[in-house]
Amino acid sequence: MSRRHPLDRYVGSWALVTGSAGERGLGFAYAREIASRRINLVLVDILAEELEARAAELRTNYDVEVRTVAVDLGDLSVYPRIMDQLSDIDVDVLVCNHMYTPKDTPKILDMSLDVLNSMIDINARAYVNLIYRFAHLMTQRGRGSIVIVASGAGLTPAPYTGAYCANKAFQIVFGEVLWYETRGTGVDVLVMSAGLMDTQGDAFAKYPRWQIADPKDAAAETLKAIGRKHLVMPGHPNRLVTLLNTRLMPRRRAVMTMGRFMESGLGKDSA
Ligand SMILES: NC(=O)c1ccc[n+]([C@@H]2O[C@H](COP(=O)([O-])OP(=O)(O)OC[C@H]3O[C@@H](n4cnc5c(N)ncnc54)[C@H](OP(=O)(O)O)[C@@H]3O)[C@@H](O)[C@H]2O)c1
Repeated sequence: MSRRHPLDRYVGSWALVTGSAGERGLGFAYAREIASRRINLVLVDILAEELEARAAELRTNYDVEVRTVAVDLGDLSVYPRIMDQLSDIDVDVLVCNHMYTPKDTPKILDMSLDVLNSMIDINARAYVNLIYRFAHLMTQRGRGSIVIVASGAGLTPAPYTGAYCANKAFQIVFGEVLWYETRGTGVDVLVMSAGLMDTQGDAFAKYPRWQIADPKDAAAETLKAIGRKHLVMPGHPNRLVTLLNTRLMPRRRAVMTMGRFMESGLGKDSA
């Protein structure tokens, strides 16, 4: 007998997914999966035109309402406006998924301080600002689910995306503690530790194919884990790589191994 899906209790209500403008992105995979469960959607992203295109696709393919909010989530002044725009609906599902990291994957000291600060704004402060506000509303209603899209990169530091890894480590710790502290309130918090997914064009072309998951599968597996787990690692390859990096190798060796893996995957010179 199949168990009820954790999202069934939100049919007809609303979900908000950040970073959902990319056609191939994980955010849109979440949005499609949620829409297929007859939950209305608020799509949030910095890319206004793409956001409208994704919203139109959802309206055409699923029987749901879709709103869009085009904002730079790294700008702390946008949050009161977002809450104002959504004051007439209850957001019962929040998926914090957006991220920013430089595509040319520089070493930390080769990045400008402005970029490092922006990454903290977008990948850490924005998560806190959204989750804090919506979690308070959810605990007042005694219902809601929050998914924090982190990464295995937050569990094992990966040189050349070091600042991103540090942002992801923040998200994991913040989410795990929030999960503990909201138990019994009716609000479920779930941290997703994602592995590599096919969302970035040919950016992962030099990585082993078996490690790269379909974002649709990763989103579906994660949503099923709401209320059942506090941290989910979707996909067997992802779990295997995490096990190897976090349990079977000493930490220094894991960082060294990850550095070499990144160098071959990104075509970097280790010098
Ligand atoms: N793909 C993977 O292999 C992988 C692995 C582990 C974890 N993840 C996590 O999965 C999530 C989704 O990743 P993805 O691969 O689907 O990436 P993606 O396609 O780049 O999606 C991220 C979205 O967030 C948007 N965004 C960036 N800065 C923003 C801002 N300041 N305000 C609002 N929106 C902003 C991006 O817009 P722009 O395109 O303009 O930047 C993009 O549309 C991320 O949290 C990522 O860390 C991905």
